[in-house]
Amino acid sequence: MTDEAVGHTPVLPREVCALLSVRPGEVVVDATVGLGGHARLIAGALGPAGTLIGLDVDPANLQQAGQRLAGCGCRLELCHANFAELSSVLMSRGISRVDVLLADLGVSSTQLDEGARGFSFLHDGPLDMRMDPRLSASAADLVNRLRDRELGDILYYNAQEIAGRRIADAICAARRDGRITTTGRLAQIVCSAVGMDPTSRKSKSHPATRTFLALRMAVNEEIPNLEALLRQAPDLLRPGGRIGVIAFHSVEDKVVKADFRRRKSEGIYRIVTKKPIVAGDAERRANPRSRSAKFRVAERLPEA
Ligand SMILES: C[S@@+](CC[C@H](N)C(=O)[O-])C[C@H]1O[C@@H](n2cnc3c(N)ncnc32)[C@H](O)[C@@H]1O
Repeated sequence: MTDEAVGHTPVLPREVCALLSVRPGEVVVDATVGLGGHARLIAGALGPAGTLIGLDVDPANLQQAGQRLAGCGCRLELCHANFAELSSVLMSRGISRVDVLLADLGVSSTQLDEGARGFSFLHDGPLDMRMDPRLSASAADLVNRLRDRELGDILYYNAQEIAGRRIADAICAARRDGRITTTGRLAQIVCSAVGMDPTSRKSKSHPATRTFLALRMAVNEEIPNLEALLRQAPDLLRPGGRIGVIAFHSVEDKVVKADFRRRKSEGIYRIVTKKPIVAGDAERRANPRSRSAKFRVAERLPEA
């Protein structure tokens, strides 16, 4: 199945393969296997003696990855699991160290495009945003339950929405008229709070872009999960092992950059990408999602 057929094109495919330099027979974790785009390339490099362990919190994506990776040519294990629990996932499989760890953060195009998942203001649907159906709180729960100050903080700290307080006040005022349950209603509240018309030529991006990003990050605990993964990585990588993270916005990229730098100062990592790798013009044109991708790689140094 092609990337077009599954509805998601992996970003920076050549760069991921070149910088992670997967070798035959290695053990690789794709912590966000998604639709299996990167995994397929990795599997090709691993060969029959190699092992690929793919994690995802979204069972629908995991099922697609399973179909796509069937007969991929290496040993394959797919697990419905959060990468924040990577150590226990590996321990339960008797694996203590891996050669490569990849995390391609955020959501897949298929998750964004499916209105019923509630990730996008472009498709009206229930205000859900849970990547993992086992999570108890949806975006609607947060929007209808949190106090204005808490909502404002989420908008500001997760997505640097400078109108965060104004939007939070508008959300709290609007819910006096009834529960906010759809993406369309939330988008409408945000647009009137900031006084911007999404169809106006003046607005570069939709006025609700940051609000939706911030809520998605809160619902799925994206930053705490990323921090948990980065905390475990040094103990899970073999000396010479590589970790690669693709981030899609500045808040998560800053977390990765700070972690790699700190590990470097502790003599744990060598930073392979002095600056984040970004997509070239051709990829940006062909795959708009790649425009905000930043890829950083570090290598695990031998223990002193
Ligand atoms: C950008 S997509 C990955 C696409 C994949 N690299 C490909 O080429 O098809 C991100 C995926 O990570 C999953 N995800 C997000 N946070 C996760 C977490 N904490 N643990 C495991 N999977 C996660 C999402 O459900 C989504 O399928």
